[in-house]
Amino acid sequence: MLRKKLITLVVCMLAAFTMKAAEGMWIPMLLKALNESEMKAMGLRLSAEDIYSVNKSSLKDAVVHFGGGCTAEVVSPKGLILTNHHCGFSQIQSHSSVEKDYLQHGFWAMSGAEELSNPGLTATFIVRIEDVTKAVLEGSEGKTGADRQAMLDANIRKIESQVETAEKNHAAEIKPFFYGNEYYMIVTKTYRDVRLVGAPPGGVGKFGGDTDNWMWPRHTGDFSVFRIYAGKDNEPADYSPDNVPYTPGHHFPVNAKGIKQGDFTMVYGFPGVTQQYLHSSAVKFIVEEMNPRAIGMRDKSLALIGDAMRSSDALRIAYAAKQARIANAWKKWIGETKGLQRLDAMAVKMGIESRFEAAVQKDDALRAEFGTVTRDLATLQAATNKYNMARSMLVEFFFMGPEFLRYARNFENVIEGFEKLETAGTLQAELDKLKGSVDAYFKNYSTSTDQKMLAALWPMYLEGLAPDLRPEIAAELQAKYAGNWDKMASELFSSSYFTDAARMKAALGKFNKGTVKKMKADVGYRMMRSVMAAWRDKAMGPQGDMDLKMQELMRTYVRGLMKVFPDKRYWPDANSTLRLSYGKVEGSEPADGVIYKPFCTMEGVLEKYVPGDEEFDIPEKLVDMARRRDYGNYADANGDLVVTFTASNQTTGGNSGSPVLNGDGHLIGINFDRSWESTMSDVMYDPTRCRNIIVDTRYVLFIIDKYAGAKHLIAEMTVVR
Ligand code: ARG
Ligand code: GLU
Repeated sequence: MLRKKLITLVVCMLAAFTMKAAEGMWIPMLLKALNESEMKAMGLRLSAEDIYSVNKSSLKDAVVHFGGGCTAEVVSPKGLILTNHHCGFSQIQSHSSVEKDYLQHGFWAMSGAEELSNPGLTATFIVRIEDVTKAVLEGSEGKTGADRQAMLDANIRKIESQVETAEKNHAAEIKPFFYGNEYYMIVTKTYRDVRLVGAPPGGVGKFGGDTDNWMWPRHTGDFSVFRIYAGKDNEPADYSPDNVPYTPGHHFPVNAKGIKQGDFTMVYGFPGVTQQYLHSSAVKFIVEEMNPRAIGMRDKSLALIGDAMRSSDALRIAYAAKQARIANAWKKWIGETKGLQRLDAMAVKMGIESRFEAAVQKDDALRAEFGTVTRDLATLQAATNKYNMARSMLVEFFFMGPEFLRYARNFENVIEGFEKLETAGTLQAELDKLKGSVDAYFKNYSTSTDQKMLAALWPMYLEGLAPDLRPEIAAELQAKYAGNWDKMASELFSSSYFTDAARMKAALGKFNKGTVKKMKADVGYRMMRSVMAAWRDKAMGPQGDMDLKMQELMRTYVRGLMKVFPDKRYWPDANSTLRLSYGKVEGSEPADGVIYKPFCTMEGVLEKYVPGDEEFDIPEKLVDMARRRDYGNYADANGDLVVTFTASNQTTGGNSGSPVLNGDGHLIGINFDRSWESTMSDVMYDPTRCRNIIVDTRYVLFIIDKYAGAKHLIAEMTVVR
């Protein structure tokens, strides 16, 4: 008996230790206090100060927030950066055409002059991170709800603007951590001239497509190469041919020596959103209601877009980026739902809540502060569900669904504001802008696909909405078409201005009061207005109020968790700020009878290779090199070439493109995905299953060097052999 107890105790302690070792997205400035000794024990050979410092150059100076949504890393003294192929995808696509198909064949600038500019693309560095909790909360004591928030917002604006006036080219943003128990200010510097330098062929950068997306084993060389340009003073500047390559504070040496199972790894990047502290009822809502509906709608749109893309090369290119965006979250949600079910996440959460509750009720002080919080969370969650669903349905129908709706929205200004613009004398300028964009919009468009999307998604959107949150136009269309949505879509598409380039051009050619009247009566336009109005007038207000209350309750709950379970180590949910996760190179045992090894190699690329296939084809030259095992000095000890590996670093969306570093701070890979069995980690992390997926730097270097022959890029890097 005693022995058994002892064994359980040891096992529990071990589990607690491994949990600690892998879970968490840590704030770089707090590493010294919270993580440094553990990281060193695991294999870090640097200090916390080497990773993040305000006073001297440190690893953070080579980490880039890429376009606000991905991460990238500096790998040369001349501002060269690496990120994922899927992070540079829309740039690669925008430079592509049927004649110059960079998506399919890749692109390599063989000199600076050939590097391609990308209007709107930015590269942001972190100057410093500061704890500003005290200053943000000042004067808010005793206030609640919107009053309190207004006070905080005013404080935040004041602190941010002080920094921005005092420091040239710096921006300051203050964000809540732990649901507003803490506030940090992130001071950044953003470069605006970022050029495309190289992209591997689709058969490398997107090898395996959506079939392999979110999956291990994985054989994707998901990387692309850009360069940051600056003014002559190395400061941010708008695009100009006179700009020069940016000189960074630090660049990562790139490892070509290889790695082995068990090696220490860290990921330094900008994870977007995690929700580890959710109440059980919120998890239930995600698993049982929100994910299934959103997945169902994307099932339909993906099938329709897939048909279009298979029908012609032009449509394949036109829809490539849209398709990838819709498919990515779709597949993630499927994995997340399954993963949460397998972990029995609701029961686990309920267990935590009842232990919390028991401890709180035993202690007068705790009871006074936290006595009702879990019940309040459940009550509020129940009230909030239909509004959260309304937001999800708006996203799925309006922002991910039929495109003509988004297109029609661009015209609201000239239609609703016609007279005002005319009096102000700015109407013509507005119309010219719209005229100028007609061709660009319809270039990436298939009318018949969009029409089918409307017919398929309209009823699903309505069904997802509580009856009192549906748009006004729904009743009218129901009366007219009695559920025959194919007919509805076909009539709308054959008459609307927003679904036909020629009709639109004619209308813009002589745009007058009469046109405004006709456009106002356009069913496509009215649907857009009605859908937006339903959200704005019926759901947005209550949703916002409840969300504010939810943040308040969560702030209390998380503070309570910290008090009641003080031995656990807490990290704040991801919020698109710079974080560091650490773990090691390792595989996993994701399911009964299944073992995932941590490495995938070129042998596996050949195994998956299907000539002519849209996802599994690879360029002949690469097939040839792989068959001859012609990998130069990038080969491993067996003469094979490692393509990808997995590690136990907690990551999420936004970590794409993140540098994966070894104990010396050398780049060993570029993070690009998680395995499907890990995708529930945004809500509940499982150290035995959760693995991130990384493209090995040896494969990246091999493709740049031996496959593409872009040796000048290798020459400017610091390659560690
Ligand atoms: N799943 C990865 C991420 O979340 C990669 C997505 C891009 N690849 C794709 N086949 N859509 O962004
Ligand atoms: N591919 C994701 C991204 O674009 C990263 C994978 C993940 O969600 O872990 O950020």
